[in-house]
Amino acid sequence: MARHLITSALPYINGIKHLGNMVGSMLPADVYSRYLRGRGHEVLYICATDEHGTPAELAAQEAGLPVAEFCARAHDQQKAVYDGFQLSFDHFGRSSSPQNREITQEIARELHANGFIEERSIRQVYSNTDGRFLPDRYIVGTCPHCGYDKARGDQCENCTRVLDPTDLLEPRSAISGSADLEVRETTHLFLLQSKLTGQVEDWIAAHGDEWPVLASSIARKWLTEGLQDRAITRDLEWGVPVPADVWPELAASGKVFYVWFDAPIEYIGATKEWADAARDGELRDWKSWWYEADETVRYTEFMAKDNVPFHTVMFPATILGSRQPWKKVDYVKAFNWLTYYGGKFSTSQKRGIFTDVALELLPADYWRYFLMAHAPESDDSSFTWDLFASVVNKDLADTLGNFVNRVLSFSRKRFGDEVPAGHAAGEAEERLGAQIAELLADHEAQLEALNFRKAAQSLRALWSAGNAYLDEKAPWLQVKTDPEAAALTLRTAMNLIHLYAVVSEPFIPTAARAMREAFALPADAPARTRSWVDAAEARALDAVPAGTPFTVPPVLFAKITDEDLAGWTARFGGGE
Ligand code: 2FM
Ligand code: ZN
Repeated sequence: MARHLITSALPYINGIKHLGNMVGSMLPADVYSRYLRGRGHEVLYICATDEHGTPAELAAQEAGLPVAEFCARAHDQQKAVYDGFQLSFDHFGRSSSPQNREITQEIARELHANGFIEERSIRQVYSNTDGRFLPDRYIVGTCPHCGYDKARGDQCENCTRVLDPTDLLEPRSAISGSADLEVRETTHLFLLQSKLTGQVEDWIAAHGDEWPVLASSIARKWLTEGLQDRAITRDLEWGVPVPADVWPELAASGKVFYVWFDAPIEYIGATKEWADAARDGELRDWKSWWYEADETVRYTEFMAKDNVPFHTVMFPATILGSRQPWKKVDYVKAFNWLTYYGGKFSTSQKRGIFTDVALELLPADYWRYFLMAHAPESDDSSFTWDLFASVVNKDLADTLGNFVNRVLSFSRKRFGDEVPAGHAAGEAEERLGAQIAELLADHEAQLEALNFRKAAQSLRALWSAGNAYLDEKAPWLQVKTDPEAAALTLRTAMNLIHLYAVVSEPFIPTAARAMREAFALPADAPARTRSWVDAAEARALDAVPAGTPFTVPPVLFAKITDEDLAGWTARFGGGE
């Protein structure tokens, strides 16, 4: 059994995220974590809020709160939504934690000692209208490479190239829109990435082939452009301060590290937060995951594609330059964009569906399943209310929910509150078992390969196989001529329900639990606590024996009605 370290890109603190954010990082990481735990692996799933940088300061300003207080509240709000989505983090930390401050400063000291950090006096954009230096991403203009007219000073969202604000054509302040910008002299720390290029290249050459193309191609494209030295400090009030023991003057002038310097280090920081939160007697060895970790630790990162350069080049350069044995990523799972009717989901323009509002409309399972079944893996994918309703109604309500309800209600009506015995399994059950074992193997293979869309398809195929079996056997007819035959069919179908409970858990944990709890298995029954189904069990379909008491759970998935659809389309906007 391996030890799996799993992180999802840290959501910015400045506001509740939309569904596009959820599908591109946290949700697939959660599905994967749940699956691996089910298979008996040791999993540490870490995430945190990304709290530094200008967006946090501006959002606090807008909310009329001190930044620290704003972040503390906003962290709790996001955490509540993620709990609602049933995200099973082992720890959901904060990049503003003392742990992250300590580790970030330590890594900076090491980079400095190894000759990879240098003080440079630079000319920085100052906005007269806003009365402040403008961080890179608060300068917008036209990308010199692709002509996109809303490129940010740090990166062009359109062509993903990393930019310097002075590269932009027709620059203006993103805060005020003012073009009254001037350039002033100031001293900053620079990470000498140019000196680390060779090492990053070697590392990507050794590991990048294993990553999905989306991640490796972005990493390689970035490398061929050559690594530039990069300013890693900013003039902000909120952030990890530059350590005064190494840079007393810069510390005194209030410089803090650039948010993209300390944010990935928070993966480590949050793991230390997790360890520090251990209760008495509980051993949480954060270093065994990160520092001189042995080969049994496999590290998988989840993120949207705009985050790939930072995770495959800049963060590795940082930790390679520290010359300390920090764990580096083994597998980078990157996602394209989920669009809203083909256009961008946008936090700032309030377009699309936000995660808190989504949960007010429907429970997490509906969203979890839909988002995974339509994850933007090989390409962008588009959310529309019609598509969402048809997936929910067909897959969740009809194929799974109705099957469960139909089987349990009918059996109760005809045979009472215990799983009926009936005939011994026959040819149809053998065929079904073989088919289920094959579909389950495919499902496992898709999850092992982190193909979430295909994994959702294979899960649905498992559910469909149950429906096909039930239609073929038609217990409502069997019961009239051969009740024992009907009982066999129902007992087999109930075993399918139990199997669905176990294997659907990563996708739809709440419904999975309801299905599982329908059966009052004795405390010592192996199937009671089973966290995955092996091939032999799948084939035999006998984990729930005759005589097991059961109850009929409330309807698992309600259908989305035309009325719901009309209301939501009107409220959230459709194609226009
Ligand atoms: O793009 C984003 O949402 C960033 N907050 C992701 C940070 S990931 C990590 F490196 F911290
Ligand atoms: Zn561009």
